[in-house]
Amino acid sequence: MSRPINLSAFQQRALLVPEEYDLFLGGGRGGGKSYTLGVLALRHAEQYRERARILYLRRTYKGLADFELLTRDLFGDVYGMAARYNAAEHVWRLPNGAYLELGQLETAAEYGKFQGRSFTLMLADEIGQHPMPDLLDMMRSNLRGGHDVPVRVVFAANPGGPGHYWIAKRYVFMAAPWSPFHEPKSNRQWLYAPSTFVDNQFIDRDQYREQLGSACPDDPELLRAWLTGDWTVNRGAYFAAVLEEARNAIEPWPAIPEGWETWLAHDFGSSAPSVTYICAQSPGATVADRFYPRDSIVLVDELAAVRRDNLNMGLGWTAPTTAEAIREMCATWKVRPEGVADDACFAKSGHGAGSIADEFARAGVRFRPAQKSERIPGWQKMRRLLADAGKPDKPGLYVSRGCSYFWATVPYLARDQKRVEDVDSSGPDHAADAVRYGCLRRDLRLQRVGLAGI
Ligand SMILES: Nc1ncnc2c1ncn2[C@@H]1O[C@H](COP(=O)(O)OP(=O)(O)O)[C@@H](O)[C@H]1O
Ligand SMILES: [Mg+2]
Repeated sequence: MSRPINLSAFQQRALLVPEEYDLFLGGGRGGGKSYTLGVLALRHAEQYRERARILYLRRTYKGLADFELLTRDLFGDVYGMAARYNAAEHVWRLPNGAYLELGQLETAAEYGKFQGRSFTLMLADEIGQHPMPDLLDMMRSNLRGGHDVPVRVVFAANPGGPGHYWIAKRYVFMAAPWSPFHEPKSNRQWLYAPSTFVDNQFIDRDQYREQLGSACPDDPELLRAWLTGDWTVNRGAYFAAVLEEARNAIEPWPAIPEGWETWLAHDFGSSAPSVTYICAQSPGATVADRFYPRDSIVLVDELAAVRRDNLNMGLGWTAPTTAEAIREMCATWKVRPEGVADDACFAKSGHGAGSIADEFARAGVRFRPAQKSERIPGWQKMRRLLADAGKPDKPGLYVSRGCSYFWATVPYLARDQKRVEDVDSSGPDHAADAVRYGCLRRDLRLQRVGLAGI
């Protein structure tokens, strides 16, 4: 009664990879990756039967619907009516006793659905839609094998999504395709398995090429990445070319030396993270064996009100609460609680309470608007300073390793796919925004004394 399953050469090869290896299916579009995930689920179910607990993850519900269709076809072919799908729960119960759940995961709140539950195989498709790896990393704690059931993770993605950079760095450029490598975050052996639509005999390839072409008419670079599965496409992190740990990271300072001018740079949020930096500007001086050319900026310390489990969510702090924490940080460093903040802080509320900045001022923290200019010139300034760090004769931007929210987010921020000179603001860009304001502040001062542009 069941129809045979035929596999492409790529799919056969992917299925031959021993289960001890985690797998990243990272080719172009139409290479048969999603179908492979379905077949991997099927094989795991057949092999481990009632002990198989499989979780398939997508970022969106629409993505889940695609896999629902795929599994209806696949399981229908193999099991006929004996496989049962509960559409409300998104759960398959297969006749061999295996359990397969289709889950949606976009925010930390949704992570709660899975917390404390165990799975033996975790599949996630289109992981390029995740701007950051943190949620997927957290999901790994839900993998628990039992007797004789190994645990495994298999991810799939096309190049060019908001998560392009972290994925390429972690899985693609570690080793040659199909060669095992150790991935430190998971502490597991992984393999990168590429494919393109050219390897997929189950589609009309000429027609598919045309379809892809009309899907991105104004973006030849993205089209090339989709066609060839090339992860070198320049969708990398926004700061990839200018930010480098070896040049920009410095050991935390014990104190701010004499003669350095200081100010705060602040990006306000309540449901979003609120982030504040202490910036210090070099008079042209050496600190801890490093020379900082005149006007270099050092981010000495950071206050980030952000949830540990979601880098894009704040702690709900009000302006007075935030101001108190800022004043404490300033007291530790012996700096005045004054600086620059995003323009939105200065918008008057409709209730006669004044602006956020007014609330800060009443709580002893004085802010001026930073963002006199557009976003792009601000980013350019920040990129210039980052790129010039380490040069003996140019001001650079240096960041203490103690600024952990900066280091957890800024290196991975994606480019805006429509406006490539801007940051993709769907990611956690709050640290980057605050730093941008901090970098613009020097220009403000020059404007005030009539020296702008010098
Ligand atoms: N082994 C297979 N048998 C039948 N159809 C397949 C097979 N592998 C892939 N396909 C079909 O090829 C198309 C592209 O495959 P898909 O897995 O969606 O590619 P990708 O996820 O890499 O973009 C889909 O329509 C899928 O159903
Ligand atoms: Mg797919």
